[in-house]
Amino acid sequence: MKPLLPQHDSDAVARAAALTEGKKLYRFTHDIYPSVALAAEVPKSEVPPDDWSAVINNAVKVVVSNQRKADKILGGHGGLVARLTDAKTTLHDLIHKDFASAINDVASLLLAGNVAEIEAKSVDDYIKLFQDVQAPPLAGQLHDDATFSRRVIAGADPEILERVRGRDPAFPVSDSAIAAVSPNDNWEAAQAEGRLYIADYGMLDGAPPNDFGGPKRTIPAPRVLFVVPRGSRVPRVCAIQIGRTPSKDNPVFDTTHGWGWEIAKTHAAIADTIAGAVWFHHARTHLVAEPAILAAHRSFAPNHPVLILLRPHFMGTLHINHLGAKVVFPEHGVLDWFTGTTQHAVREVTHASLSSFNFNDSLFTRRLRSRGVDDVETLPEFPFRDDGLLVWKALCEWVQSYVSLYYASDADVGKDSELQSWVREWSAPDGGGIRGIGQNGGLSTRSALSETLAQLIFSGSAVHAAMNFPVEQEMTVIPNSPWAAYAPPPTRVDGYTEADWRALLPPLDQAQRQFGVALLLGMARYGRLDAYPSNTFLDPRVTPLLAAYKQQLSAIEQQITERNASRVPYIHLLPSRIPQSINI
Ligand SMILES: [Fe+2]
Repeated sequence: MKPLLPQHDSDAVARAAALTEGKKLYRFTHDIYPSVALAAEVPKSEVPPDDWSAVINNAVKVVVSNQRKADKILGGHGGLVARLTDAKTTLHDLIHKDFASAINDVASLLLAGNVAEIEAKSVDDYIKLFQDVQAPPLAGQLHDDATFSRRVIAGADPEILERVRGRDPAFPVSDSAIAAVSPNDNWEAAQAEGRLYIADYGMLDGAPPNDFGGPKRTIPAPRVLFVVPRGSRVPRVCAIQIGRTPSKDNPVFDTTHGWGWEIAKTHAAIADTIAGAVWFHHARTHLVAEPAILAAHRSFAPNHPVLILLRPHFMGTLHINHLGAKVVFPEHGVLDWFTGTTQHAVREVTHASLSSFNFNDSLFTRRLRSRGVDDVETLPEFPFRDDGLLVWKALCEWVQSYVSLYYASDADVGKDSELQSWVREWSAPDGGGIRGIGQNGGLSTRSALSETLAQLIFSGSAVHAAMNFPVEQEMTVIPNSPWAAYAPPPTRVDGYTEADWRALLPPLDQAQRQFGVALLLGMARYGRLDAYPSNTFLDPRVTPLLAAYKQQLSAIEQQITERNASRVPYIHLLPSRIPQSINI
């Protein structure tokens, strides 16, 4: 199958027939989430290969074995382990045989049974959830401010941090709060020097409480302030306000407030966990890729060079999104058992994230700039940015070189009717519904085409990896990242105890559910950024370009490994650890 642009293909009839077939197989539906485009059904060809299933099955095996041992130690939780063991066989069916009925089986197995609401006697009980897998170091650093601060530059929510550009009367932080972590410093100086940063979780404001599967619980929408102390390389948390409106009952906490501070940090961690998972990870990687994939198969003939490049980067995405929509995100689905708001609200947050998303603005370098986190003078260390830029540059060069093989000029881009159709379908309100793609509703230059392809691939590989794989450590240590607050927010800064902090944390059976989901997600690593299946590129001219790309990534692997020798190691953007697609 020779890669050809439509304007160069003499067999227009075969091409048209392929597109008719593509439109039949890949159809949009907007009925699963409000106004969000998903596949109406997943074609068989989108089911991942057997070696992907093997990775998932192995992860399930580890989770089940670990949960069984934890169950024994914690006293049993109403048969969750037995259900997980049964789920293993249905998961196999889900992957290999009868997808639809296996989904129902898995859901009902996981969700059956009574909720025990087993109270943790101490923080150690959460750590006892680690049996076959080792608890990560952060299990012993729960109250360490440096560890907390690191989550916004190297955790599962690396998109949240933004530079402070002015004072917000709704967030009245005192200079003493800043000076407590950055001696002789204050708001004015830190802001003027670009050293003041904020994580604002306003996107979670108004989410209603949830009581499915356990006691009533909530998610907060805090503001969290960070300062980079002079001479330091990393931001340091200095103030947290849990509610949105300042009042006597909604104080600003700082590092001098003892257990009140610890309670405030855990509220911030809950918001960070949900915002990272729902607003950024699910909405802005999974659900931006989905309509691009549908539109691609509806618009490109199989021998279109763009589809040939993208297909490996689409592997498993429709499948995993379908699974998510049917099992993880619905009302009374897997997340509903331990999340602090209703699944209806989760879907609304998802929709709000996509409604406010603009693809062109999301371009990796552009977004770093608009967030104000691109300056290494003011924010010297930001591993997601620093390692991401290396991978981004190599990826852009590879994509540009590939695009130049098939498009001799910008005019070739404009004349490519299938490419124009792809952009239209991906962005049409009754199609993919993603805003800000291309140039004036199409694509007219090689550089804009390369940029669009590079961002789509980067988001579905590097960015997704950076958001998914920290979960294995961050979210299995439940007190570090609960998905809900089980006690109301504190109304004063002083007078709290460790018991008040512990009251915020989930019962052990809900903790165990979160643990299982986080471990499974974190262990399910399949594929590698540059490992294209051997039959992907049959055009011999691609071979040297791909070889150059692989060489660049291998040099980056080395460079990041060297960096890790002189900083707290960050492994999530090592090219060898970045899957080629969103497949978990
Ligand atoms: Fe994911």
